[in-house]
Amino acid sequence: MDELAALKEAFQSELASVQSLADLQQLRNKYSGKKGVLTAQLKSLSSVSPEQRPAFGKSLNEIKEFVESELKTREISFKDGEQEKRLLAERLDITLPGRSVMFGRSHPISQILEEIKGIFVSMGFGIEEGPEVELDHYNFEALNIPKDHPARDMQDTFYVSNEVVLRTHTSPVQVRVMEKRRPPLRIIVPGKVYRCDSDVTHTPMFHQVEGLMVDTDVSFSDLKGVLELFIHNLFGKNTPVRFRPSYFPFTEPSAEVDIGCIFCSGKGCRICKTTGWLEILGSGMVNPRVFEMAGYDPEEYSGFAFGMGVERITMLKYGIDDLRLFFENDLRFLRQF
Ligand code: PHE
Repeated sequence: MDELAALKEAFQSELASVQSLADLQQLRNKYSGKKGVLTAQLKSLSSVSPEQRPAFGKSLNEIKEFVESELKTREISFKDGEQEKRLLAERLDITLPGRSVMFGRSHPISQILEEIKGIFVSMGFGIEEGPEVELDHYNFEALNIPKDHPARDMQDTFYVSNEVVLRTHTSPVQVRVMEKRRPPLRIIVPGKVYRCDSDVTHTPMFHQVEGLMVDTDVSFSDLKGVLELFIHNLFGKNTPVRFRPSYFPFTEPSAEVDIGCIFCSGKGCRICKTTGWLEILGSGMVNPRVFEMAGYDPEEYSGFAFGMGVERITMLKYGIDDLRLFFENDLRFLRQF
């Protein structure tokens, strides 16, 4: 009986120093396992005298139950503790600010291009496109630009071969469309154009929007009306508009269109070079020579055409002073639009 009491005490002190579930399993094996000390005591029951046997057996049973229930209790508390630890470690901190999603946005040039298209579409113009790698014939010849015209110079035009160029303007699409269709025509042509030029106001590639309207009685006042409406839509209805005589081989008469400087309200500043006016596009009545070459009878039809640089218009609209910003892809710049 003393031995049993000593066993119980030893178990209790060992239990107290258990640190983990693994330790606990070892203790269980040592006491109540098949080869454990309590099992050994049970086997020795037969060697106990018959008088003492009931009391010894009872006491041994009590210790066995005690040991098992202590082990169980300890096991549960270990498991609880581990679960708690896990819960703590895996806890979601819902007070953390969310991670924001990065959204893309359209480039300022694309935005203005969409705006320009929207204005003309609302006036009944359709949208056409043409090739960026163009025949000399469409880019120059069919637009009444003779062989010795300065625009054909190697310094301005990217030549692919003698007969093939990167188009220097969107005007060749005028001819391509006229060859395919009969009047009435009312189209705009947005697209990329290329010139061998690079400084603060020129990049080798830029965007233009061409316009062409042809019918039996289109007059210069139609040109004025359409462009004034366009400018008032894009820059505001109080923007002054001026038509200034100019020259293009494919229009006659020709006019450059200026708007009152939006930076100084016409008073004269660095950006408008003290003139109070900003040039925004070229235009004119389609030259009868161009109609002839496209197969239209100039006695029957008249029309107007215009062409504008999208980068230039975007710079004026937003007050951007360096064209190259559009192509550097600096997000600090692009995010402002
Ligand atoms: N193509 C001319 C340019 O690039 C613009 C223009 C188009 C002028 C149509 C008149 C008519 O400068």
